Amino acid sequence: MTSSSLSPRPVVGRTVLIAGATSAAGVAVADALCTAGATVIAVGSNEGRLQSLRDTVTDAVTYVCDLGDFSAVHELAAAVHAEHGAIDGLIHLVGGWRGGGGLTGQTDDDWDFLHSHVLTTLRNTTRAFNNDLLDSPAGRLAIVSSVTVENPAPGGANYASAKAAAETWTRAVGRGFATAESAAAAVIFVVRSLTGLEHELATRVVDLWDADAASVNNTRVRLGD
Ligand SMILES: NC(=O)c1ccc[n+]([C@@H]2O[C@H](COP(=O)([O-])OP(=O)(O)OC[C@H]3O[C@@H](n4cnc5c(N)ncnc54)[C@H](OP(=O)(O)O)[C@@H]3O)[C@@H](O)[C@H]2O)c1
Repeated sequence: MTSSSLSPRPVVGRTVLIAGATSAAGVAVADALCTAGATVIAVGSNEGRLQSLRDTVTDAVTYVCDLGDFSAVHELAAAVHAEHGAIDGLIHLVGGWRGGGGLTGQTDDDWDFLHSHVLTTLRNTTRAFNNDLLDSPAGRLAIVSSVTVENPAPGGANYASAKAAAETWTRAVGRGFATAESAAAAVIFVVRSLTGLEHELATRVVDLWDADAASVNNTRVRLGD
């Protein structure tokens, strides 16, 4: 056995906040991070679903927060800092799909939902925790985007546009990391459907800490190929 094989993985001891943690993908990511030795802070808007997560991932700590409300996210950040210190990772998983019906089916209600869930929650969480990631010895931000950004269709125009905006926002955050010469990186995972890819996503999230920041910052990584 070599000395390097005895070294703990870089993810060990990191504090990682999962924004929107109660879906199958969120539970898989939380479980993989806890198993790898990270402290997981799982956030959702529904206490019942967070309890289900805690039943499965017993080491995760959870917070209820409407991540679409910036003042609530500000309070969340204060509570997390007081109880766990600064975070090293932000894995943003709030999403949801609305669409269909061609271009005339792209309703304002659907746009408001997608804008709020896909983009506003990302803007709120990254603004609240950007300094943590910048100052961390290994800050990581990840989102999960969609192949429809490259190949949008009329019936998914609202959705693809919201996801495109989320990708642009994430690249802006990553550019800030690079400009500050911090050890942080922002990564965009891309899927057609997450169903069946939850464990691949979880593994890729844990692996983010194995790579040096500059080699992964502002990369777009397709899952499921
Ligand atoms: N599913 C797919 O096939 C697919 C395809 C392409 C991309 N993606 C993307 O992959 C990511 C994960 O997708 P997913 O389907 O696993 O999850 P999701 O169902 O889109 O949402 C993830 C979590 O967000 C939480 N959430 C919703 N609104 C919230 C709010 N206002 N504040 C706090 N938490 C909130 C939900 O929990 P609560 O309701 O308990 O709060 C849920 O656990 C998303 O960004 C999604 O757009 C998914």
